[in-house]
Amino acid sequence: MGLAQVCKSPINYTGNKYRMLPQFIKYFPEDTNKCVDLFTGGATVAINLISEEIIAIDNNPKVINLLKFLKKQEYKILIDKIDELIEKYGLSNSYKYGYSYYKKYVEGNNGLKKYNEEGYSKLKKDYNKLENKKTDEANLYLYVLMVYAFNNDIRFNSKGEFNIPVGKTDMNKNNREKLKKYIDMCNEKKIEFICKDFKEIDIKDLKDVDFLYADPPYLITDAVYNENAGWTEREETELLNMLDKLNNEGIKFALSNVLQKKKLNKKNEILYNWLETNKDKYFINEIEYHYRSASYNKKNRDGLEEEVLITNYKVGE
Ligand SMILES: C[S@@+](CC[C@H](N)C(=O)[O-])C[C@H]1O[C@@H](n2cnc3c(N)ncnc32)[C@H](O)[C@@H]1O
Repeated sequence: MGLAQVCKSPINYTGNKYRMLPQFIKYFPEDTNKCVDLFTGGATVAINLISEEIIAIDNNPKVINLLKFLKKQEYKILIDKIDELIEKYGLSNSYKYGYSYYKKYVEGNNGLKKYNEEGYSKLKKDYNKLENKKTDEANLYLYVLMVYAFNNDIRFNSKGEFNIPVGKTDMNKNNREKLKKYIDMCNEKKIEFICKDFKEIDIKDLKDVDFLYADPPYLITDAVYNENAGWTEREETELLNMLDKLNNEGIKFALSNVLQKKKLNKKNEILYNWLETNKDKYFINEIEYHYRSASYNKKNRDGLEEEVLITNYKVGE
């Protein structure tokens, strides 16, 4: 199979597949030489694939640049720079000083929010003022912003400004471990990050790929990354056409998606029709969508989402 032990990405990306990855293990093909993680987002799937070569593609330049920046760092040097920035903006550093040091600033279950509010707001302003967001400095700022952001989220408004409010946590042990593991994984594996729109990919360039995983924005859910980029029926149809072409070339693929949201009476008709037309070629594998937090569980129960992994091969074949 194509997955190692499951590691978390240092980027807590909306719609990431961390919790579903252990289930993907039995569906992903074995012995792959070159894999593509199309719509890589926070690269959760890409970093966990076992393959000679892994290509991770997404059209979000800020996320791809951040992944590229973190990949080329030496952990010890990077962490010193991060600690320096934390110090400069007066942000909490519970790893260095212990959480108890900040106890008097904690109100209710707001964690370190109050302590970090001012410094975070200044950091956000300074990051948004940077003219060139591609530099190492900008990426360092962005990483630290994300760590101190609400839910460790990474999101930009239509003007390209980072727009998440302050969160409850900081550069704690867990975030340090995720960062170190990511850098280690990138050093161990041959993984390349490419910023590209999937529509610009020429199938001819994928000839030597033996497995492609596609995790596009879901047409019938309102994920945040749809806000700016826009995922419409046009993109959905183009992607399915692309997958048909891959199938014709004998390239294995797995597509994540949600077929319907029963409570909201929403159904992905395009996907349904495509599957109906290709009944003999494509297979629907049901995936359990288990979130840890109670509120998410409730949301999922109410929405009755049907999370699936569609493959052009039968599992075990
Ligand atoms: C569901 S998320 C992927 C999450 C990812 N699998 C993970 O585990 O973090 C979908 C991704 O598709 C990207 N995307 C949206 N439209 C795209 C397009 N036209 N071409 C390439 N990537 C696109 C978004 O930037 C987003 O990162």
